[in-house]
Amino acid sequence: LREAVGFSIPCILFPLLAWCYHEPSCNDSTWPTIATKFCNGSRQSPINIISASAQLDTNLTAFTLNNFNGNSLKSITNTGKTVKVTLNSGISISGGGLSGAYDSLQFHLHWGNGSSVPGSEHTVNGKRYPMELHIVNSKAIYAGNTTLAVSDSTGLAALGFLIEVRKDAFQFFVTLIYLNYVSHLMAPLIPFLPSGDSSEVSQISLTDLIPGVDTTRYYRYLGSLTTPSCNEAVVWTVFKDTVKVSKDVIDKFSKMIYVTNSTSPLIVNNFRNLQPALSVTTSSSSKTCYSVGLMALTVLLGRL
Ligand SMILES: *[C@@H]1O[C@H](CO)[C@@H](O)[C@H](O)[C@H]1NC(C)=O
Ligand SMILES: *[C@@H]1O[C@H](CO)[C@@H](O)[C@H](O)[C@H]1NC(C)=O
Ligand SMILES: *[C@@H]1O[C@H](CO)[C@@H](O)[C@H](O)[C@H]1NC(C)=O
Ligand SMILES: *[C@@H]1O[C@H](CO)[C@@H](O)[C@H](O)[C@H]1NC(C)=O
Ligand SMILES: *[C@@H]1O[C@H](CO)[C@@H](O)[C@H](O)[C@H]1NC(C)=O
Ligand SMILES: *[C@@H]1O[C@H](CO)[C@@H](O)[C@H](O)[C@H]1NC(C)=O
Ligand SMILES: [Zn+2]
Repeated sequence: LREAVGFSIPCILFPLLAWCYHEPSCNDSTWPTIATKFCNGSRQSPINIISASAQLDTNLTAFTLNNFNGNSLKSITNTGKTVKVTLNSGISISGGGLSGAYDSLQFHLHWGNGSSVPGSEHTVNGKRYPMELHIVNSKAIYAGNTTLAVSDSTGLAALGFLIEVRKDAFQFFVTLIYLNYVSHLMAPLIPFLPSGDSSEVSQISLTDLIPGVDTTRYYRYLGSLTTPSCNEAVVWTVFKDTVKVSKDVIDKFSKMIYVTNSTSPLIVNNFRNLQPALSVTTSSSSKTCYSVGLMALTVLLGRL
């Protein structure tokens, strides 16, 4: 019992998560002082990616996404800062110019305030997108020990997917929200997901979340976590293809998810401000499907 009490006291006295996005007392301009020494380091994320400045790197080959097709999602949680979905074990990524395999641990989202106030973390050529999905992966040799991963300058690999509005989009987040809010587990709690609450989500695969994204087309740079403690341990990948969802889905994020409960503020604009520019590389932008199309055409031409 004494041990249990002794363990809980430091959590109260030194709350590591005493940071925020908007209060002047804890917004991102204060992160270097309230949270950690890393937040004012020299390779901080997110950044504005300037496509014309990105150097071509032929080592940036296609990703291999292992088990992204299966029942990937373990549980969904409102952390008070974002919606985080933890992933089942056995999901990993490799290729993509990475040094080896990385286990996929969780994904979460950043958003603005409705589809008219964009909230992606990365911007491309100065454009901020409505939302951004981050899939967080940890070097397989660390077996999910993130303490070890964040002390390695390439210990984590984050996949960033920019999300934008398209009217005819496949509404994957509707599925996510449906499962979360309308399932029997959450029915009494409609229409908000209480902070810290967690719900089982078993039927969605990661592939469902990123339909049509070409994993051979992306930007790469070495950066950091975008929340305290801002560790400079992240190999960033930002895909060039965006994920398209309906306007309604984007609006739901800023209208339905409260910091703690329905009497607390909504979670909006949960993105970090842009950090100083870093060196960015790009995979080759040639499209395989285009060459396949040309090949098919030459076959047809041969028959003429
Ligand atoms: C953060 O708070 C400081 C005051 O501590 C204020 O000057 C600054 O404008 C705020 N930044 C943002 C992005 O809100
Ligand atoms: C980072 O912030 C700390 C705490 O405010 C400060 O002591 C340090 O000089 C800063 N480092 C840089 C590189 O600005
Ligand atoms: C590509 O990989 C090779 C072999 O690892 C390395 O020597 C080369 O510097 C890399 N190229 C770039 C542009 O990083
Ligand atoms: C978000 O947008 C709504 C209107 O859609 C507005 O009432 C609210 O004040 C905005 N919140 C912030 C933090 O800007
Ligand atoms: C992670 O690794 C460190 C160093 O080896 C160890 O002290 C710690 O207990 C490990 N954490 C977990 C959760 O296994
Ligand atoms: C809502 O959360 C606040 C803390 O943020 C708490 O003080 C309040 O009692 C909660 N209300 C309900 C109805 O749970
Ligand atoms: Zn993130």
